[in-house]
Amino acid sequence: MEKLFIFDTTLRDGEQVPGCQLNTIEKIEIAKALEELGVDVIEAGFPVSSPGDFNSVVEISKAVTWPTICALTRAVEKDIEVAAEALKHAKKKRIHTGIGTSDYHIRYKFNSTQEEIIKRAAAATAYAKKFVEDVEFYAEDAGRTDNEYLAKVVQAVVNAGATVINIPDTTGYCLPTEYGLKIKYLLDHVDMKNAILSTHCHQDLGMATANSIMGVINGARQVEVTINGIGERAGNTSLEEVVMTIKSHKELNIETNINTQKIYPLSKMVSSLMNMPVQPNKAIVGRNAFAHSSGIHQDGVLKNISTYEIIDPKEVGINDNSIVLTARSGRHALKSRLNLLDIKVDADELSEIYEKFLNLADRKKDINDEDLLILAGKEANGTNRIKLDYLQVTSGKGVRCVAVITLDISSEKFTATSFGNGPVDAAINAVKEILKRQVIIQEFLIQAINKGSDDLGKVHMQVEYNGVNYYGFSANTDIVTASVEAFINAINKIPV
Ligand code: KIV
Ligand code: ZN
Repeated sequence: MEKLFIFDTTLRDGEQVPGCQLNTIEKIEIAKALEELGVDVIEAGFPVSSPGDFNSVVEISKAVTWPTICALTRAVEKDIEVAAEALKHAKKKRIHTGIGTSDYHIRYKFNSTQEEIIKRAAAATAYAKKFVEDVEFYAEDAGRTDNEYLAKVVQAVVNAGATVINIPDTTGYCLPTEYGLKIKYLLDHVDMKNAILSTHCHQDLGMATANSIMGVINGARQVEVTINGIGERAGNTSLEEVVMTIKSHKELNIETNINTQKIYPLSKMVSSLMNMPVQPNKAIVGRNAFAHSSGIHQDGVLKNISTYEIIDPKEVGINDNSIVLTARSGRHALKSRLNLLDIKVDADELSEIYEKFLNLADRKKDINDEDLLILAGKEANGTNRIKLDYLQVTSGKGVRCVAVITLDISSEKFTATSFGNGPVDAAINAVKEILKRQVIIQEFLIQAINKGSDDLGKVHMQVEYNGVNYYGFSANTDIVTASVEAFINAINKIPV
């Protein structure tokens, strides 16, 4: 097996998404999770671009041990000096310098010539080499650069000491065959004894993963990726897609260092810290990526999972049941979910529950475990042990949010007061204060049922306790009350 190096640029190219900027503490949290995931290189930022980026590279360099920490620069001496300074605490460090090589960039961005650009590329590489051993060079817009000229640029920077040559399809323009042939052309025409080629593909035409894989098949040995595929415009190549493609296609004889079971938790972390929801049908990490809803598929999956699933969800860290019960589900799926809930039924009982199930499913999109317990005549575990007795919140502009809450727990009253960064946060903190349990909110969704400010707010909440997820729901015209009730509803399902 040959090794494919995973270069993660979530914290640099990924963080260029408007409105999704992270602070240094959040970046450190993600960097440590990337280290646990097993990435080889973390591109931590573009230090000359702002003091915040500089500081993040410094702090990530201190916090992370195994992966190489990489800092981006233009082919400008000052950028390279600042990057070297930011990397000074990194145990393994890399400077990523480069310049645009397509005619579009040479003419319109630099008003220069091909010869001049080669000189600047080689000079920047040689300059970076004075500070660090490991220098990566990027030929920006290589996707639209003529291969013959690109090979001359690559040869010049390899001669100047570059260890990795990045071939970005900056505008996401290439076709997979075209990109693969570009990589092959470079390997055939440049003396690459001491360097490897890297892919860096953008998603503008939806081909980033296909292009990266074609690059790898044609000899690239590093891929530049981001978690959830976030990045400029339509995004970058997504780490999870490339890694799982490589893992699924053993015939490629390539391996990565990624612990794939950490993929899903990290995807959730990035999505929540960046406030960027993952589209439900996103490959590998989308909510529906492993959800089977048609009756025919559910029946097949229950008979043998390999009929409709190429990856075991557990391999990417997803433990949830993948069968979604909807009006299209058959008896087989219903019976299997009832079994999981420890409800044993004979054929007649199953038919009776199935009738009621179809009735409900016509009115409600998907049927959850609590609905099934009710259909089967069972009460959800300890449903009403904890009740909301009293809630008062103070919030507003310039006011510190505070909540006073009284809970009725098995007919005994408990009161607490708490602050928070908003009314819901304050109220949930007060509930936690009374219950003293390490309950973590995993998902929190508020929806208006109709329209208008007098509308009923529906709150769905998923909480985690001791590694198990519990769902809560409530609807109320007061969304703070609905949120607290949904939280309590979930907690009531935790076995006492
Ligand atoms: O897409 C691109 O060309 C880049 C380079 C700066 C590496 O992100
Ligand atoms: Zn990019």
